[in-house]
Amino acid sequence: MTGPVVIVGAGGHAKVVRDALESAGFVIAGVTERDAAAAARNFPDLPYLGTDEGLADRFAPTAGYLTIGVGGACSTDGRRRLHERFSDQGYRFARVVHRMAYLAAGVQVSEGVQVMAGAVIQPGASVGAYALINTRAVVDHDCFVGAHAHVGPNATLTAAVWVGAGAFVGAGATVLPGRRIGAGALIAAGAVVTRDVPDGLRVAGVPAAPLTPRRG
Ligand SMILES: CC(C)(COP(=O)(O)OP(=O)(O)OC[C@H]1O[C@@H](n2cnc3c(N)ncnc32)[C@H](O)[C@@H]1OP(=O)(O)O)[C@@H](O)C(=O)NCCC(=O)NCCS
Repeated sequence: MTGPVVIVGAGGHAKVVRDALESAGFVIAGVTERDAAAAARNFPDLPYLGTDEGLADRFAPTAGYLTIGVGGACSTDGRRRLHERFSDQGYRFARVVHRMAYLAAGVQVSEGVQVMAGAVIQPGASVGAYALINTRAVVDHDCFVGAHAHVGPNATLTAAVWVGAGAFVGAGATVLPGRRIGAGALIAAGAVVTRDVPDGLRVAGVPAAPLTPRRG
């Protein structure tokens, strides 16, 4: 993949994205950000390309690639919306794999995926478009991670786990072998998932159980 990359959003996750990009030898064209002061604070040495609006005037879809600098503390919706919005405008997304991540031979990683430092993806695994495999996450053999899903820092998907589109696996969570995490489901930080999780359900704890919605 050639061509410079723009980081969309200049908050905390963007710092991690920048590190991954630089480790992998990408040239960074600049950052977009609604809050110009945050961009200047976090990236004083990178070109500020203004807000997302009208980016095409400053960085055309043919000029290179984008990558999303927004993490999402417990939801994948914001990242998905950004990917969809810019894809509709004709942008392509870089496949960003940190130099210190380990991808076994034959692992499939789709367009727009981010794999951060220390992550391990083992044989037979595949990672769908725009998914985020965060710092030190483990995607062990024969796992499937759906499009736009987020496997959080230090989370472990043991063997042959299936993660649906847009699901969120929180930091340090463990999913036991062969379990299915439904599309849009949320696994709280530190949970141990012993049973399949239906689409959209939020679970927490050891063993993981549904989070009760707050009253009022
Ligand atoms: C599950 C989670 C999304 C809940 O967030 P929330 O909706 O704001 O919920 P609250 O913090 O108001 O907590 C609601 C209840 O769930 C409990 N809870 C929250 N997180 C929990 C967790 N990880 N494990 C067990 N219980 C948890 C709270 O103690 C609280 O219980 P209470 O009602 O008895 O007091 C959040 O705590 C979480 O785990 N997020 C993942 C963060 C993460 O991994 N980020 C990595 C991105 S880089």
